[in-house]
Amino acid sequence: MNSSPWWKEATIYQIYPRSFFDSNGDGEGDLPGVTSKLDYVKSLGVDAIWLSPFYTSPNKDGGYDVANPRDVDPRFGNLEDAKELIAQAHQRDLRVIADIVPNHFSDQHVWFQAALKAGPGSKERERFHFYDAHADGTPPNNWISIFGGPSWTQVEDGQFYLHLFDSSQPDLNWENPEVNADFEKTLRFWIDLGVDGFRIDVAHGLIKEDVLTNHPDPQGLSDALRLDVAMDFEKRNALLLTVPFFDRQGVHEIYKKWRKLFDSYGDREIMAVAEAWVHPPVNATRYVRADELHQVFNFDLLTADFNSDVLFGVVERSISLNATVNALPTWALSNHDSPRVASRIGDEQARALALFVFGLPGSTYVFAGQELGLPDGQLQDSDRQDPMFFRSNGPSKGRDGARVPLPWSGETTPFGFSTGKPWLPISQSWKDFTVEHELTDPKSSLHLYKNALELRKEFLVGAGGITWLESSRHGSKEDALLSYSRGPITVVMNLSDSAEECDVAGKLIIVSGGTVDVRDGKKVIPARSTAWFLT
Ligand code: NOJ
Repeated sequence: MNSSPWWKEATIYQIYPRSFFDSNGDGEGDLPGVTSKLDYVKSLGVDAIWLSPFYTSPNKDGGYDVANPRDVDPRFGNLEDAKELIAQAHQRDLRVIADIVPNHFSDQHVWFQAALKAGPGSKERERFHFYDAHADGTPPNNWISIFGGPSWTQVEDGQFYLHLFDSSQPDLNWENPEVNADFEKTLRFWIDLGVDGFRIDVAHGLIKEDVLTNHPDPQGLSDALRLDVAMDFEKRNALLLTVPFFDRQGVHEIYKKWRKLFDSYGDREIMAVAEAWVHPPVNATRYVRADELHQVFNFDLLTADFNSDVLFGVVERSISLNATVNALPTWALSNHDSPRVASRIGDEQARALALFVFGLPGSTYVFAGQELGLPDGQLQDSDRQDPMFFRSNGPSKGRDGARVPLPWSGETTPFGFSTGKPWLPISQSWKDFTVEHELTDPKSSLHLYKNALELRKEFLVGAGGITWLESSRHGSKEDALLSYSRGPITVVMNLSDSAEECDVAGKLIIVSGGTVDVRDGKKVIPARSTAWFLT
């Protein structure tokens, strides 16, 4: 095997297929739509695509409710379309990462339907977490679902089943060997079809402990797990240490087995990245020990303030914790579950942060549309489809804003995404965010991403670690600048609202916005902007 596998410092482009490009006019993106846009994807300078689920699904949770993990849902096409997509991606030297959802199936999966029929005590029910009600008719415990409401739903014969997410997503019982065998079959199915890796959904959730025990503060725990609920830092940390259904030791035994399966494909360098929200942060490193998975998402940048103290802490901690297991970090500013970065911290700040992150060691994930600087879509409640919105009865607006389809071309909505009515409305105000428009504007976010990714490849991939450039106020909250050097590049981010002088050598090669001036031999970095200097 190569000493530097393809995924180590790859830039990976996340595609939410339903929102990418609609090839047949039904208002929803599909696999042929993705295939038809691969030249665009390639032109961004990314190394791989990660496809959110496109498997057979009633689509109660955007396809993360899988009814048949070894087939394609008709809304997205068919298996031949998947093969064609993979082949076309490979022709362009783009790797393909599929999403695997092992924590739960859809209630429409044949196993769950069989479990309902077979009744209490059957081996069909042992594939899930079915339990009797308490004598007073209440559920087996008081856990609250991540999407709000109880974690248990009662079936006709009186038993309850566990679902950490929507009631249409029954949790699988990973103590049952049949479950592992079925997932190994699924992994091999997609690898044999050509995929190069997997993003593992809820990777930290597969093993549950104390399923029949109440939690002392279920509402507090549920709030602590929800990023849209504000909570005192210490209180949140204390609650997160008590989660009985995440990050149990047993999950690592599963990934050790999976690693052997991946490695059995030798030169294909099959990789896997874990979606694991765990606490304390050091626990995330367990998922990327040498005999487990290859990467684990670092979600800190999805919530971090645009503040030098916070960002210094996030970057430093992620690099140093991963180093303890000889792994490199991952970076993500947006995904399909969180507000888009441009809406969360501001447009200029989002560009600055992207350019700051593109210089760092490790792998970078870019959520489709992020390269255009897209904000969240503005939706009416009547447009919303996310179960998080429905189960919380309103206070959580859910994640649809980040999932509004991409604007491609033209002057009027739906901007070439579809010839039909898009599944979520695309605002007319996105006229200047289309790919077509941004290609004509050298100062667009799209050009920034393309240029930055090209420079990253040329100067930084494989360039080793970073050295922070200290200022007298380094790391303090008031510090305007955050700066590091790596290989031949010095990266300087100005987080303040005014232009700031800095003493940095080298030639300016890219800036995220505005103009870098020279004053008394010092470089002046524009407000809310990042610049790279080549020495
Ligand atoms: C994480 C996925 O990213 C999210 O979209 C989904 O709702 C949950 N896991 C449940 O599968």
